[in-house]
Amino acid sequence: MIIAKSFEKTESTSPLLVGAFLDEEVQIAPAIDLEIKKMLAEKEIGLEKGKVNKIFTFGKIPNKSLYLIGLGKKENYDYEVLEECLRKVNYKLGKELVVELDSFIKDLNPNEAVSRFIKTVGFYNYVYDELLSEKIDNELNLKFYTKFNLEKEIEEAFILANAVDNTRDLVNKPYNYLSALELAEYAEGLAKSLDDERVTVKVYNKKEIEALEMNAFLGVNKGSKAEPRLIHLKYRGADTKPIGLVGKGVMYDTGGYSLKSQMNNMKSDMAGAAAALGAFEAAVKNNLSVNLQVVICATDNRINGEALLPDDILTAMNKKTIEILSTDAEGRLTLADALCFAQKQGCKTVVDIATLTGACVVALGIYTTGLFGNCHEEISKFFEASKRANQEFWRLPISKYIRDQVRGSKVADLKNSTGRNMGASGAAAFLEAFIEPDTKWIHLDIAGTAFLTQPSYQEFYGATGVPVNTLYYYLKNNEAR
Ligand code: BES
Ligand code: MN
Ligand code: ZN
Repeated sequence: MIIAKSFEKTESTSPLLVGAFLDEEVQIAPAIDLEIKKMLAEKEIGLEKGKVNKIFTFGKIPNKSLYLIGLGKKENYDYEVLEECLRKVNYKLGKELVVELDSFIKDLNPNEAVSRFIKTVGFYNYVYDELLSEKIDNELNLKFYTKFNLEKEIEEAFILANAVDNTRDLVNKPYNYLSALELAEYAEGLAKSLDDERVTVKVYNKKEIEALEMNAFLGVNKGSKAEPRLIHLKYRGADTKPIGLVGKGVMYDTGGYSLKSQMNNMKSDMAGAAAALGAFEAAVKNNLSVNLQVVICATDNRINGEALLPDDILTAMNKKTIEILSTDAEGRLTLADALCFAQKQGCKTVVDIATLTGACVVALGIYTTGLFGNCHEEISKFFEASKRANQEFWRLPISKYIRDQVRGSKVADLKNSTGRNMGASGAAAFLEAFIEPDTKWIHLDIAGTAFLTQPSYQEFYGATGVPVNTLYYYLKNNEAR
């Protein structure tokens, strides 16, 4: 996807994009307004929410055609409706679109409206065609015409939309194109391309991970021919205490010896890692004044003669012992060590992002991300950010009952599975055991929301880029200035 941007009123003959309310007179150009009015009266076109009407202009205005987009009723219009109305705006409407932006802004805040516009069109314009022999040309050039000066917002949203695209590309890539090694190479390439002396990257190989005694992480990698990688990115955009983004990077999850009977789409088990990288990219490119780190324990979860077994006991980086009940509860093992590492590196605020439990999908479905945490204030900051991003999160509990279950092993400090009941909370309670008392911690279970196999709102099949946008606004709300 490419979104270009410009301000000048153009004599372009490209299609004109105009938004209009159901209950308001349409005013585009005197040469065509009357005919449009007639077509509306005769119900040949309509202005219901999200309806796209293609109208040919036969030389009456410079633009050869016009897309009149229904915005529904005036009284119901808000940012969410705006986003809903733009779902069908993509490269299929034309390579270049001249947007009468103010017809979409109405009474909304222009800065916020243009940001929503770009992110939404970027989202629905995305295609994953990397491995198709016939590529889809989804280049889309948006030319905004507006009376407001929105250059900064356009640039920011454009960067964010591109970061979301990159996250989605990573998640959509199959395992045979993206191993732990290749993800580490991507992270190094990203750091280099950011070309900013405040950015550093370090990748640890298996020997170095062994030296760090990250044996919970290494346990997951035991059955794999492919080496693990620990990826550590830093961005010193401010002299504050670093915020850590810890992403689950299970490159493929077969379940291990607790083999999954159905493992399709488990290439997406690194969506947390991809989201952390996307948020990092957006934060740096938009020059946020935050001190940020990304930590990813990247490995696949596979089997050979060496693989981890149920009943094995692992010792995590912080020396806690873990009884393996299921080798398919591998994400929390990699995250346990990643969380320890992030805190050792000085992160006093940590957000982990993980496709962690099927139970979370059962509880919240595919449009709501599960959220856990230990600090009300930080969580409400996060919810604030989620509203700007138009991404839904729902807080779930870590109760005493589930903590007792996690600590109920007869042979080790912790067990890695608490069974069916409260599955998402069980995973969170496990992670909580690796959080130090003075660390503010948020855990996001994106198992349902990161990758759509049955999309229902015109999204494309596959990766969604959730929760990159929310993470970005959360970081922005944490800026030092
Ligand atoms: N990666 C899966 C979780 C998952 C399920 C992600 C569905 C996306 C869609 C995770 O590693 C897993 O297998 N979790 C187990 C945990 C159980 C064994 C305690 C699960 O949810 O079944
Ligand atoms: Mn698993
Ligand atoms: Zn997994």
